[in-house]
Amino acid sequence: MKTREKYPRNTPMTKPLPVRKAVLPVAGMGTRFLPATKAVPKEMLPVVDKPVVQYAVEEAMEAGIEQFIFVTGRGKHVIEDHFDHAYELEALLRERDKTKELDSLLESLPKSGSVSFTRQQKPLGLGHAVWCARHFIGDEPFAVLLPDDLILGKPGALKQMMKAYHDVGGGAVIAAEERPESEISRYGVIAPGKIVGNIIEVKGVVEKPKIKEAPSRLRIVGRYILPSEIFAELDRKEKGAGGEIQLTDSMQKLIGRHPFHAVNVKGSWYDCGDKVGFLHANIAVGLARPDIAPALRAILKSVGT
Ligand code: UTP
Repeated sequence: MKTREKYPRNTPMTKPLPVRKAVLPVAGMGTRFLPATKAVPKEMLPVVDKPVVQYAVEEAMEAGIEQFIFVTGRGKHVIEDHFDHAYELEALLRERDKTKELDSLLESLPKSGSVSFTRQQKPLGLGHAVWCARHFIGDEPFAVLLPDDLILGKPGALKQMMKAYHDVGGGAVIAAEERPESEISRYGVIAPGKIVGNIIEVKGVVEKPKIKEAPSRLRIVGRYILPSEIFAELDRKEKGAGGEIQLTDSMQKLIGRHPFHAVNVKGSWYDCGDKVGFLHANIAVGLARPDIAPALRAILKSVGT
């Protein structure tokens, strides 16, 4: 009988600390999506009928996250309102017996006291945005989800990563996806070591490398589990690619000091911060929805796809 190869744990005697908190950086300016994002945060643009950010929160809840820390910026207060009760609306739905709509509103609300907001006063880069959440995280491992990276997986990407986190004995676990060579310079890229199943040992990470210098075609997707020691690196506020404080640069410093792995997540990924990626996500989610798919399919046919 064939036995499945299991990833050997780094520290078999210790149980990794649970990951209870997630940081959702939402302070970016969304310049690729202007003019839509002039007054509306890109995280609030809907994929079918749910804002992009809600998919990330639901993915985190499925993975067992209990505390959500949003790193917001100017003009992002509607994100705060979205994760709060809307009393007038709820009363109106109740009055009109719109039970289905009311239930769907209430189901998506995180528990009272489980959501916090902090501000990144200047969009100095993703690393800086994560650093802004340091006092909420303290000294526990935590997850980071970039909401405009929409990943549809069963189970969700973060849950797949949580399993890997426990299988390898903790440390840093990031999500990875294979991309064509022509695209790789746009992303953070992984230098892979040993690969067992869908778990990849990470030997290095580099932000936006030139095609010739890219160590692989494995790019980092916007999901991370990180040890709190990353804050000591982010504290240095060193600027990297594009003059921004990059999360990738601080992650590189953890390699060799902490177990560091990537998970080739199973699922479909859409860049909702990009116009075409966003349209793609809407079509894919619409086609997967039984209440929408027949009409959407007919429209797509009529426009000649
Ligand atoms: P992006 O680079 O995709 O966001 O950052 P952006 O800067 O808004 O995009 P464009 O290129 O101008 O369209 C990835 C994630 O990091 C957050 C963004 O909100 C997004 O979730 N981010 C980025 C911050 O919170 N602060 C920053 O300074 C930069």
